[in-house]
Amino acid sequence: MQIRKVTVLGAGQMGSGIAQTFAQHGFEVVLYDIGQEQAARGLGHIRASLVRLANKGRISAEQSQAALDRITLSATLADAADSGLVVEAAPENLEMKKTLFRELDRRCGPDAILATNTSSLPITEIAAATARPEKVIGMHFMNPVPVMPLVEIIGGLRTSDDTLASVKALAQAIGKTAVEVRDYPGFVSNRILMPMINEAVYAVYEGVALPEAVDLVMKLGMNHPMGPLALADFIGLDTCLAIMETLRDGFGDSKYRACPLLRQYVQAGWLGRKTGRGFYDYGDEQRG
Ligand code: 3HC
Repeated sequence: MQIRKVTVLGAGQMGSGIAQTFAQHGFEVVLYDIGQEQAARGLGHIRASLVRLANKGRISAEQSQAALDRITLSATLADAADSGLVVEAAPENLEMKKTLFRELDRRCGPDAILATNTSSLPITEIAAATARPEKVIGMHFMNPVPVMPLVEIIGGLRTSDDTLASVKALAQAIGKTAVEVRDYPGFVSNRILMPMINEAVYAVYEGVALPEAVDLVMKLGMNHPMGPLALADFIGLDTCLAIMETLRDGFGDSKYRACPLLRQYVQAGWLGRKTGRGFYDYGDEQRG
């Protein structure tokens, strides 16, 4: 089946990046969020990102406008009904995702593929909430989605080879490199990235070094584009904590325990760039 229409659920940082990327590559996109206001904010981020790409000469002003014109905002799940692919990018809450997938399964056509952008939750369990587990898959994009070339593709226990092949082809059609991994906690990306970030938080917690010093070591010493603490602020400290907890619960291994300082920042509402404060202070103007 030729997929031309995609619904993206969730107009946050990841969802709006995913919607933008599909729209830039000629797909009709429905960008859904629970309220018109959230969806409109997502569209604002997409507009800003397209302007940035156009100003850099990466795309023309016409391409930028055409991408915007392909995106329709929605606050009702019924609008997903005729999409060949749905990509869910809602918050990292397993029960919420299972409820959403149950609802999507009821509303979408029988051939539709239901993908989740979860960063670490089990695809197999999300799939089991539907009557089409063979058509449920993980499509894990990296932030910022329009820039990062990777999509981690995760087949659940019952995902079919056809679904895997279709989703790999779709990833290629939007200019990404698909890497297939198995459905275990954190997949590959966050199983390796998050313990590194958590260890960087421990280095601050234990007074080994200040955040700036930790980040400089990793930037200048390891050629990382961002230090781990700046990256944690960029991803969101609540997301980092949730992923550490998924790793700890999924493997039952204390080596994945979250640093108490990470937990305390989340308790304080210091979630990183999106709240203006994390390991660094971003001021009001940086808030997403
Ligand atoms: N939209 C469009 N373009 C963007 C963009 C956005 N949101 N953000 C950055 N860009 C573009 C810039 O326009 C620029 O384009 P150019 O190469 O043509 O000049 C390019 O990306 C680089 O941006 P900047 O010059 O502004 O800044 P940097 O050189 O510092 O790059 C960065 C920014 C791409 C974010 C870089 O710092 C980076 O790669 N950081 C690491 C990102 C990373 O590790 N992401 C993965 C996070 S983990 C994840 O997402 C998984 C999840 O489950 C937790």
